[in-house]
Amino acid sequence: MKSDKTILITGGAGFIGSHAVRHFINKYPYRIVNLDALTYAGNLNNLKDIQGHPNYHFEKADIRDRDALDRIFNFYKPDWIMHFAAESHVDRSIMDPLAFIETNVLGTANLLLAARKHWQELQGKLFYHVSTDEVFGSLGAEGYFSEDTPYDPRSPYSASKASSDHFVRAYHHTYHIPVIVSNCSNNYGPYQFPEKLIPVVIQNILNEKPIPVYGDGTNIRDWLYVQDHIDAIDLIAHRGKTGETYLIGGHNELRNIDLVRLLCNIMDHKLGRTKGHSENLIRFVKDRPGHDQRYAIDASKLEKNLGWLPMIKPEIGLEMTVDWYLKEKEWLAGVTSGAYQAYYEQQYQNR
Ligand code: NAD
Ligand code: TYD
Repeated sequence: MKSDKTILITGGAGFIGSHAVRHFINKYPYRIVNLDALTYAGNLNNLKDIQGHPNYHFEKADIRDRDALDRIFNFYKPDWIMHFAAESHVDRSIMDPLAFIETNVLGTANLLLAARKHWQELQGKLFYHVSTDEVFGSLGAEGYFSEDTPYDPRSPYSASKASSDHFVRAYHHTYHIPVIVSNCSNNYGPYQFPEKLIPVVIQNILNEKPIPVYGDGTNIRDWLYVQDHIDAIDLIAHRGKTGETYLIGGHNELRNIDLVRLLCNIMDHKLGRTKGHSENLIRFVKDRPGHDQRYAIDASKLEKNLGWLPMIKPEIGLEMTVDWYLKEKEWLAGVTSGAYQAYYEQQYQNR
């Protein structure tokens, strides 16, 4: 298929990035180059269905490696960069902040450097930076994050993402690189690595293991089905304004404990277990240090300017997610073998 644009997607072997690669390959005649270092979170099995597609190319490379970026930019001459690659888990950032600075801050700076060096002509170019609502800090019972909310990151993860957001905007202001930043709430769906809450809960219910709920379980997150995030990114990349920021949210706030109980009910039903069986696995454990209380997004700019609204209701999205994990037991077994066990034990031994 003749392609009319080359998009370099970083982190395309991860959770959200793999959905992006699949989406853009299937929907557009674009050449997609997936640049991924295949860390513990990167998995080419996430993209089995599109291996061999004539418009798909994979480059195992690290965004910390400037020479590798030069080689890839020289070879593919990307028109757009969609930057998903990151260290993405708050608990890991508390254990090892430096890894987050290296990949999220320096890695993003390297990509910006490469874009500036290789993009002589800026017409038609786009550096799309995928970021998180966690850069805005923590809300109390009231209020929402909006595009005007001042940054107040509070974990090493969110501090590193905040720093990368600033560099991206600085490259726009200083060097006129066409950039867009979007900050999104918590995603869930197929292929999410079982270190994040929803797949941890699903996995532990499957194996009848304790479900760790941090603190008293009253922390609130706004959950968005991953395809809704990808649809928003697609819309923003094609119709959004460069130099601008867009917030993406699910309009779906849930307390952790309520979400966990919902998953217990769905799973009991699907597994033919008696109602209440899985709830007995819930354990309130020592809280995450610096645990943000509440995230919530006012996504009205995106709705007003580009007509975006989330399509997947949580009851449906959670059920689709559970169905996927139940069907893909081999995928789950694959990603939870090896180093994962040591991580899980280290993470939960002190809680
Ligand atoms: P993930 O951890 O599932 O995947 C990250 C991917 O990046 C992996 O494939 C990994 O191999 C790759 N990677 C990591 N370090 C790299 C490096 N140095 N060089 C090249 N590749 C590297 O993450 P995710 O949950 O899919 O998140 C993707 C992006 O979306 C991140 O930037 C994250 O901050 C952002 N985000 C995530 C959420 C969420 O709920 N998961 C919400 C908002 C924004
Ligand atoms: P997580 O999925 O790690 O996303 P984030 O920290 O980026 O929001 O966690 C979501 C919420 O669930 C957060 O409030 C922490 C909590 N949590 C638990 O209670 N138990 C767990 O085992 C995990 C991983 C998270």
